[in-house]
Amino acid sequence: MSSERGQFSSRFGFISAATGSAVGLGNIWGFPTQTASHGGGAFVLVYLILAFLLAYPALMAELIIGRHTRHNMVGALPQLTQRPALQVIGRATGLYGVLIASLILSFYAIVAAWLMAQVPAAVANIGGQQPAASWFTQSSLLRDSLFCVLFLALTAAIVARGVKDGIERWSSRLMPALLLLILGLTAVVLTLPGAMEGLRLYLVPDFSLIAHPSLLTSAMGQAFFSLSLGVGTMLVYGSYMSKTDNLPLTGAYVALIDSGIAFLAGLLIIPAMFVAHQQGIEIYSADNTLIAGPDLILKTLPTLFNSLGLSGALIGLVFFLLLSIAALTSSISMLEVPVTYALEQFTISRSRATWLIASGIFAISLLILFNFDELFGSVINITTKYSQPLLGAMLCLFAGWALHRDKLLSEISAGYSAAEQGLFWKIWPSYIRFVCPVLVIIIFVQNVRT
Ligand code: TRP
Repeated sequence: MSSERGQFSSRFGFISAATGSAVGLGNIWGFPTQTASHGGGAFVLVYLILAFLLAYPALMAELIIGRHTRHNMVGALPQLTQRPALQVIGRATGLYGVLIASLILSFYAIVAAWLMAQVPAAVANIGGQQPAASWFTQSSLLRDSLFCVLFLALTAAIVARGVKDGIERWSSRLMPALLLLILGLTAVVLTLPGAMEGLRLYLVPDFSLIAHPSLLTSAMGQAFFSLSLGVGTMLVYGSYMSKTDNLPLTGAYVALIDSGIAFLAGLLIIPAMFVAHQQGIEIYSADNTLIAGPDLILKTLPTLFNSLGLSGALIGLVFFLLLSIAALTSSISMLEVPVTYALEQFTISRSRATWLIASGIFAISLLILFNFDELFGSVINITTKYSQPLLGAMLCLFAGWALHRDKLLSEISAGYSAAEQGLFWKIWPSYIRFVCPVLVIIIFVQNVRT
């Protein structure tokens, strides 16, 4: 067993790391594209409601379990109960979470690789090196494998340095940079012709679409993915939190910043699509819906950037840099899940564990890359559509039923002395026992049926 557990040095450190985990491709790519394919403002509205009614309470379950037990995903759940049968279930849930976190990283690294390759592509474009630019732009097994290994190596290099010197330091450097880049880009794009039409679609809800069944399941899936829930990411980050932090408030900041940045990314991407439309670039697919898949980020937007000359190339460079940074602060949180498990369960050094696990994950990414059509979509579905909600419901049940009420209250009161009189304590404990698991399961069943 490793001797010293890491800890975040301050509340700012924790918030940077946790929002770094939460804000990722899910916000900057997933959220705007889901919005585009689900009728704009209607999706935004449902998403925001679910993020606070469902995802925030589930986030709190993970943070509380983590900080209370100070353990990894596998070790934490059995500690909450004395009953041997429940301990076995807790352990199994934990192991399943570690596996799913690793699988999510294996496909996330592939998507990150596509995006990271666009950074040198933009540089080559600006420097007038057309052949190089098109090599970086076009997907090939060689390019994708190279950037995948590069991305995972960057991730591992940060995680190997530990909680404070790796995860916290890099998240608190990269997150403010990300915020500045996205604010700057949004300001530029909103001044371009056509942007206002996109803005209208994004902000004005079409209430006829709110009842659409896939809207609810997609919005929940999106909220769970965006807050990194279910697989123990937030549980592990919670386990590094200081006892003096106010849990409900800090968790609320994380949920707010995460939804805020997703919302901001929508203000950037949807108007950018309509700017592209104005330039004569196709933004509707054959069935008359807005283009939403990889083509949007990897074809439509680059075509737009190219059509804007040098300033467009610069915008493109910043845009893909932004996506790469967002992906990196998220991937470190995914890798931390199996790494903490290995550290606390076996005798192994952090850096050895990190590089070994990252290599294993790279092997899975390669397997996916080489069998792309069979595996890519299935791995995403198995992990995010089915496993994440199930695991999320399990974590809510453990926090609500296994963790004793007195312990729960004393955990929340540490860092928030007036907890017992507060609104959170009045609502959350029964909410997490009944409402959250039931809602998640209803939506999960919907998911399985569609
Ligand atoms: N939340 C991140 C995003 O929006 C991705 C992420 C990080 C994640 N850790 C996770 C998703 C754990 C699921 C589970 O891109």
